[in-house]
Amino acid sequence: MISVIMAGGSGTRFWPLSRSSYPKQFLKIVGDQPLLRATYERIRPLSTDEEILVVVGREHEEETRRILADTRVRILVEPFGRNTAPCVGLAARYAAHLGATGPLAILPADHYVADPEAFQHAIRKAATVVQEGGIATLGIVPTRPETGYGYIERQTEGALDGAYRVRRFVEKPPLETAAKYFQSGRHYWNAGIFVATATTLLKEFAAHMPEFAAGLDVLARTFDTEGFSQALEDLYGATENISFDYAVMEKTREAVYVVPTHCGWSDVGSWYSLYDVRRSGADSDGNVLEGDVRAYDCRDSFVVGHGGRFLAVLGLQRVLVVDTKDAVLVADLERSQEVRRVVQDLKDKR
Ligand code: GDD
Ligand code: MG
Repeated sequence: MISVIMAGGSGTRFWPLSRSSYPKQFLKIVGDQPLLRATYERIRPLSTDEEILVVVGREHEEETRRILADTRVRILVEPFGRNTAPCVGLAARYAAHLGATGPLAILPADHYVADPEAFQHAIRKAATVVQEGGIATLGIVPTRPETGYGYIERQTEGALDGAYRVRRFVEKPPLETAAKYFQSGRHYWNAGIFVATATTLLKEFAAHMPEFAAGLDVLARTFDTEGFSQALEDLYGATENISFDYAVMEKTREAVYVVPTHCGWSDVGSWYSLYDVRRSGADSDGNVLEGDVRAYDCRDSFVVGHGGRFLAVLGLQRVLVVDTKDAVLVADLERSQEVRRVVQDLKDKR
């Protein structure tokens, strides 16, 4: 099957480790591979290299090519990011151009999955369900009222051997709503993965972003030619910046399915969720320590020493410390989502 890796994000949630020039998918934050490479490895049992499309922004093209240098994946370069809706549209149109008739798996480049086999199983199941139409998602049982995810409400009846029909898809609800969904027992987190045929996806763009869909048809004439990059720039210049979740998933009238999975998924979207992923390697006091770090009487803290110097911490509880060569962050571990405030401030000053 064709797999599409969306690798255009410019994350700042791992400040001071990640900068906009070096987003999360390039970081080796879990294991010894960049998340992008791990994503590629995870889908290799499902797709040949030629069936893998990596969609990336121009500023990250070089590093993406370096990380995947020994592979034969196809890389589609965007002039600038327009969020995931245009990215999915472009990939679907290109897949159609390649003659793909079966389902496509659309995947974020910067997630962590503890159990790749369970993940592959879920994708295969999703692909079976949407063979004749519809869009399938992967559902994760929520563990907190997170407001940074999409929520998928399943229908109680009509389970189809490992998949459910979806009643409603709600992207990033406010906290009160998220809390209700968290309690309901019928809602899953959207893992950010979509499985559908190119035909279905292109039909959806024609319905919900008609001008963009028409533009894709014009663009398709330039595929694999020199004119592509300018034509894509023209199309993106005229296209709204919007995620696939808002543009299509919240609005679609197609059948939507959810395949619940326990594949150890994490979008490692914050220092706290990274700490969570790494907790299995914590010391007996719950501290995760990385680099040349020594902790005395600390509990449940996350200390990252990447400054090239010795780092000592004493008496900390649920504290995050990140030392890099040119910046240090010390924060309440549970408030680590808020580092974007620092990033914003630094941007404003420039
Ligand atoms: N090529 C390309 N171009 N990729 C992009 C672009 C773009 O303009 N914008 C984002 N991406 C990539 C990111 O690198 C990431 O791998 C993926 O698309 C998803 O984008 P995010 O920006 O990380 O989305 P999100 O985390 O806010 O929300 C999505 O993921 C959640 C799970 O992590 C949604 O699908 C939510 O519903 C979902 O719960
Ligand atoms: Mg994300």
